[in-house]
Amino acid sequence: MKNINIFKGPDNASRIIMGCMRMPALSEKEAATMIETAVNLGINFIDHATCYGDGEAETRFGAAIKQTNIKREDLIIQSKCGLRFDKQIFDWRKNTIIESVDGILSRLDMEYLDVLLLHRPDLLFEPEQVAEAFDELEKSGKVKYFGVSNTMPMQIELLKKYVKQPLKINQLQLSLEQSQLIDQNLYMNNKTTDMSIMRDGGALDYCRLNDITIQAWSPLQHGMFKGTFIDNPDFPELNKVLGELAEQYNVTKAAIAIAWILRHPAKMQVIAGTMNPVHLTEMAEACKIELTHEEWYKLYLVSGKFLP
Ligand SMILES: NC(=O)c1ccc[n+]([C@@H]2O[C@H](COP(=O)([O-])OP(=O)(O)OC[C@H]3O[C@@H](n4cnc5c(N)ncnc54)[C@H](OP(=O)(O)O)[C@@H]3O)[C@@H](O)[C@H]2O)c1
Repeated sequence: MKNINIFKGPDNASRIIMGCMRMPALSEKEAATMIETAVNLGINFIDHATCYGDGEAETRFGAAIKQTNIKREDLIIQSKCGLRFDKQIFDWRKNTIIESVDGILSRLDMEYLDVLLLHRPDLLFEPEQVAEAFDELEKSGKVKYFGVSNTMPMQIELLKKYVKQPLKINQLQLSLEQSQLIDQNLYMNNKTTDMSIMRDGGALDYCRLNDITIQAWSPLQHGMFKGTFIDNPDFPELNKVLGELAEQYNVTKAAIAIAWILRHPAKMQVIAGTMNPVHLTEMAEACKIELTHEEWYKLYLVSGKFLP
């Protein structure tokens, strides 16, 4: 496993994260097998959110880990709050953030979270309230580190005016097929393609400049949760090149797609959403290879782009 230094100390966070959004589909026993598989592969970073299965993902994880010999302190456990599907609102108010963490800890049956992320911006957010919530959560020892998800640079700047804890992470969508985080830099100022449109305020370079680790979500998906592009007949060219590189490196196509994200110099983490131990094992092989500059571009171009 490749590791990265996000927090104080050595390179101790795995670059592949186990994402638990799909964990509610598993039994407690299957979830325990999934967690053990991840840890045996060197994956120590776990991603949750209050909305995954409406809390079911955290509950299942909390129960499943008790069936293993894994020590809680050997894991970096992250969850996200602020997205309230139940009420059809986004909510970064102080009490909501604090109550959400209490709910997360109770479902996980744990004393603290390593990382709390604000899931997606509340259009009515007041940074002073976020600051007060983070202070209280830090003081009580319930949360060690903080960050955001799907958040624009200027909104991070606004948060930073009041929040005193460093914002260490921004979780953003990125896959070979959903590469808008990267595209806008290549096609800048080009009126002939939508790929030149700046959709995120320059989040990629902002995060690099400010030592914010990007966590890439849905790394194998096309569209927004439309399914994977791996072995998908709608992406023949991409699968052809993925297949050739997979054969060359003796790994799977999924591992090549993950290696493509890991190869970016922003040193991102990748959140794997598979709930199949074999698939997770195959994806972890991505850490054993390093794509060349040329191979990176070849994959980028066959996923529907062109050189301007
Ligand atoms: N911050 C946000 O707004 C946000 C949004 C979405 C997700 N996330 C996080 O990102 C994580 C990953 O998202 P995701 O699940 O959409 O990502 P993903 O890893 O791109 O997709 C996983 C899905 O692809 C399937 N799949 C098909 N072939 C596969 C193969 N060969 N190898 C691996 N998987 C294959 C998996 O099925 P099997 O289980 O059968 O392998 C699973 O259903 C989530 O768990 C969550 O933690 C964050």
